[in-house]
Amino acid sequence: MSSDLSINGLSVNYGPVEALYDVSFDVPRGQIAALVGSNGAGKSTVLKTICGLVAPSGGEIRVGGEIVTPRPGDALKLGVAMSPEGRRLFPRLSVEENLLMGAYTVSDGAASRDMLSRVFGYFPRLKERRRQMAGSLSGGEQQMAAIGRALMAQPKLLLLDEPSLGIAPIIVAELGKIITEINRDLGMTVLLVEQNANMALSLAETGIVLETGRVTMSGSGRELLASPEIRAAYLGI
Ligand SMILES: Nc1ncnc2c1ncn2[C@@H]1O[C@H](COP(=O)(O)OP(=O)(O)O)[C@@H](O)[C@H]1O
Ligand SMILES: [Mg+2]
Repeated sequence: MSSDLSINGLSVNYGPVEALYDVSFDVPRGQIAALVGSNGAGKSTVLKTICGLVAPSGGEIRVGGEIVTPRPGDALKLGVAMSPEGRRLFPRLSVEENLLMGAYTVSDGAASRDMLSRVFGYFPRLKERRRQMAGSLSGGEQQMAAIGRALMAQPKLLLLDEPSLGIAPIIVAELGKIITEINRDLGMTVLLVEQNANMALSLAETGIVLETGRVTMSGSGRELLASPEIRAAYLGI
């Protein structure tokens, strides 16, 4: 199976802080993969490095076989879009304006309008609130807008950084269903980063566990959910 994302021996340092050490994993094309780990494990650093926002001190990242370089916009050209941790919307712009920001690299206007109507199809609440300022949305709705904005770039690889953070369980369940639909309908490869191991591993075909910058376990989502170590460390069971 061809890999959409291939990470090989990746190391990242922030000055003296070693955030990632020799991290390797692959995400096959069209899959949902979950990268789980507790706070500070290095999950966001993996995503930032894939996006070229952080330069690795070692190793390489390939998207669709091409090496990602830490140059702004390079990853986007390779078809990568991220919904960042904390959502990072423009609070004083409308929901629709925020979504359209995600499409600034897409030159095909008809394709953008088509994607906007798909986003509104996945997230009807965003359609109802399209003219409202993004800052006035609930946390769950802001998360939907952040995912929608990433979709507007029409990526091949969608990176989601902790979509469940600070969101009511019922909305987390709804987001999980929609992430599965997006993956299935649009054939988009998804790397889902979560502290919520239960949510992420139950959606994912592949799971990777990161602890203090190192991969400690990987397997199918189902295997990892059933493993006693995961249950004790992440699910409190
Ligand atoms: N810009 C930065 N400068 C210094 N240290 C950082 C920076 N960003 C993250 N770190 C450190 O790197 C480690 C991994 O952080 P991060 O990737 O944000 O973890 P996670 O997303 O899993 O919570 C943590 O120890 C964090 O404090
Ligand atoms: Mg993080």
